[in-house]
Amino acid sequence: MRAVVYERYGSPERLELRDVPRPVPGAGEVLVEVVATSVNLSDWEGLHGSPAYARLGGLFRPRRRILGSDIAGRIAAVGDGATRFAVGDGATRFAVGDAVFGDIMPRYGGFAEFVAVPESMLAPKPAELSFAEAAALPQAAAIATHAVALAKPGARMLLNGAGGGSGSLAIQLAVQQGVQVTAVDNAGKLDFLRALGADEVIDYRRDDFTRHGPYDLIVDLVARRSVFAYTRALAKGGRCVMVGGTARTLIRMLTAGALLGVLTRKHLGVLFVRQGPSAFVPVAERCAAGEMQVHIDRVFPLDQVPEALAWHGEGHALGKVVVAVRGE
Ligand SMILES: NC(=O)c1ccc[n+]([C@@H]2O[C@H](COP(=O)([O-])OP(=O)(O)OC[C@H]3O[C@@H](n4cnc5c(N)ncnc54)[C@H](OP(=O)(O)O)[C@@H]3O)[C@@H](O)[C@H]2O)c1
Repeated sequence: MRAVVYERYGSPERLELRDVPRPVPGAGEVLVEVVATSVNLSDWEGLHGSPAYARLGGLFRPRRRILGSDIAGRIAAVGDGATRFAVGDGATRFAVGDAVFGDIMPRYGGFAEFVAVPESMLAPKPAELSFAEAAALPQAAAIATHAVALAKPGARMLLNGAGGGSGSLAIQLAVQQGVQVTAVDNAGKLDFLRALGADEVIDYRRDDFTRHGPYDLIVDLVARRSVFAYTRALAKGGRCVMVGGTARTLIRMLTAGALLGVLTRKHLGVLFVRQGPSAFVPVAERCAAGEMQVHIDRVFPLDQVPEALAWHGEGHALGKVVVAVRGE
């Protein structure tokens, strides 16, 4: 099968389209014929091996040589052990040919024609969504759901890094539950953020959001500020969570942030997002029902995964970048 492979950390030029053996599903696994896959910031981080936590799977060389964690496709084979997920009358949950989608991080392997994954990572694809739309959702929807769950109706929420995959869903979810949203991203994305429903927008290249506020909730998807800056921007009793960002900020949040929180009664921490169908299916259902929009910026073919990652990583994308592995 064709797959986009890398052997060393570095820039998108490290990625090569190659023929590699088709994986065989093991116990409890299914083989998915990938139709579409989407790019996440974690692919960019995994490619570069930066921030430091992106090297947890391999300090000097990547252990997983095929990136890509959001997939949508069709079941091509069911591993022997997969029958232990039997439901109802004893039939396996998925049969060959079923359309599915899911987030397969931390396994990766989505930038390929086939990938073998535990059946439990997948959900049936809603018929109303295209494979490209379904592939754009799992990781971003899980992050958006967990982040917005921290906001009460009427709360003032600031979302930093709001113009990407998770942010574009989080704004819609937050606005729908009566949260006031301030969205931060680069100038080219501000109209997009307003169109999604953000009440206020801030260009991070010109303005410092921690000088605004106060906010009841700060969700930082690309955290790199000091704990003091976050504390300054929080309202009394407010909460700031880092979802992604630098390793340095992660350590600060878990150490000085926790201590500062005790002193100021403002809560700083890290949001660890539980992945899996229960986290992304409700958002997919809302998209299928037309209550929310999946924003796909561009679709690239499999042989242009390096270009797709560069387009996303260099900050051009509004919403999600999708890779079409085969025709829908
Ligand atoms: N905590 C968990 O359990 C967990 C699980 C999975 C993923 N993650 C993390 O969650 C985050 C998800 O983000 P995503 O998928 O929505 O990423 P994304 O699609 O890449 O969006 C990130 C957005 O942030 C913007 N940005 C970059 N630098 C910025 C800065 N300094 N200030 C403000 N905005 C900035 C980017 O725009 P420009 O670059 O154009 O400026 C982009 O629009 C990632 O950091 C990922 O690593 C966390």
